[in-house]
Amino acid sequence: MELKKNNAKTGSKTKILVQKVGSKEKPNKETQYLATELASGKASWAFSKNEEGIQILVKENGMSVEDFRIMGFTLFEFLKDKTQDAEIEGKENCILPILEGIMLSSYRFDRFFTTKPTPPNTFNRVYFPSHISTASIEELSNTTASVFWARDMVNLPLSHLTAEQFANEISTLLTPNNISVDILEKAKIEALKMGGLLSVNKGSIDPPTFTIAEYKPKGHKNKKPIVLIGKGVVYDTGGLSLKPTPGGMDTMKSDMAGAAAVIGAIHLAAKQELKLHIIALVPATDNRPGMNAYTPGDVITMYNGTTVEVLNTDAEGRMILADALSYAEKFKPELVIDAATLTGAAVRAIGTHAAIVMGNAKDEAFTKLEKAGNEMHERVVRFPFWEEYKNDMKSKIADLKNVGGPNGGMISAGKFLETFVKAPYIHMDVAGPTWLDVKENYKGVSATGYGVRLLYAFLKNY
Ligand code: BES
Ligand code: MG
Ligand code: ZN
Repeated sequence: MELKKNNAKTGSKTKILVQKVGSKEKPNKETQYLATELASGKASWAFSKNEEGIQILVKENGMSVEDFRIMGFTLFEFLKDKTQDAEIEGKENCILPILEGIMLSSYRFDRFFTTKPTPPNTFNRVYFPSHISTASIEELSNTTASVFWARDMVNLPLSHLTAEQFANEISTLLTPNNISVDILEKAKIEALKMGGLLSVNKGSIDPPTFTIAEYKPKGHKNKKPIVLIGKGVVYDTGGLSLKPTPGGMDTMKSDMAGAAAVIGAIHLAAKQELKLHIIALVPATDNRPGMNAYTPGDVITMYNGTTVEVLNTDAEGRMILADALSYAEKFKPELVIDAATLTGAAVRAIGTHAAIVMGNAKDEAFTKLEKAGNEMHERVVRFPFWEEYKNDMKSKIADLKNVGGPNGGMISAGKFLETFVKAPYIHMDVAGPTWLDVKENYKGVSATGYGVRLLYAFLKNY
């Protein structure tokens, strides 16, 4: 989808006019009728179509930013196979989120079809009014590109995205944008003794990777970097503690959605030239059974020397993240945030409408994250992080075990991770919102790209 400034000259564009109830610009008969309908009913907006195009009426103060994004989705669905160009008119505060909704709705993952689905989407250009700033259009284009990259990564199956391929994709995305990328290969990971990442990788036929991306612009405002860490399990079978199929395993190509989110966010931050020093770390591997796979009962020495008794090989995310969290220490970060599709417990607790967050960072950091989440409608819910939850992770024979009790599993997982971090810490369990089985407005279906816009907004307001 292309965004262009309206030049008023070219014809054959579908006109979209957004106006408030009672405003007197070009109301047609249908619109006048809608105005009376709206005044009496519960809906806060309605649209009508005639030869002149689409007229949208909105109630004064009746609309949230998210309502306008969803209006953009509705417009996209209506126009996708009916037109090529549309032009939109209206006030800035509603045009931008409508454009955002249109842009995010235009995503398709169709690269594996030998014959493209019909009817094809013809709608591919929107002309925006000249009072919209070029900077905000640029930001929207960059945002869309970063979100779509994250969706692509999550939608790609293991057959097309091994740990090494994922690391290469990250490098290809980031290196042209003033971000240095260092991919640690298996030999280096072994030399560093990253026992968590190596043990999860033992059953695999493909080597693991550990990717370090650093964005350090001139004049950055933070003395100490912010470190973002993403779970990069390119496929999670559960390992020897095999997941059931159908049901448990089918969608597990999405188990690197946390990594996709943090890489999308650092990419967007660099594109938008945020004056922040940011480092992103992605430990990546698949998790599968194999002749040499790590087994329930194994005791693993992690990167920082902690010993962990593995009682379920399906609790692999925390194993690889733990090494990344203790590796982060070398950067002396002022804040560490991880994003991980860590637990089914998180999905069962609150479903797909938000991520669960917890940690020991200052309340202020959580407030900012919540604010960014509400702004972008990529919401977060803070869960307790009391010490008692850590008792679940005590092992009889090692420093920790990798599974907790039957309940509150998203929190005991967070407490496990916390023991590997020295800096102020926020853990985000994004297992719910990063994947949708059923299409939901501009988020689409399958990979949503959740977390890219949230983390970018958080960094921008930081
Ligand atoms: N990747 C899964 C978590 C997950 C589940 C993500 C559903 C998205 C949707 C994770 O590696 C996992 O298997 N977690 C286990 C942990 C348990 C063994 C302690 C789980 O939640 O069942
Ligand atoms: Mg697992
Ligand atoms: Zn997993």
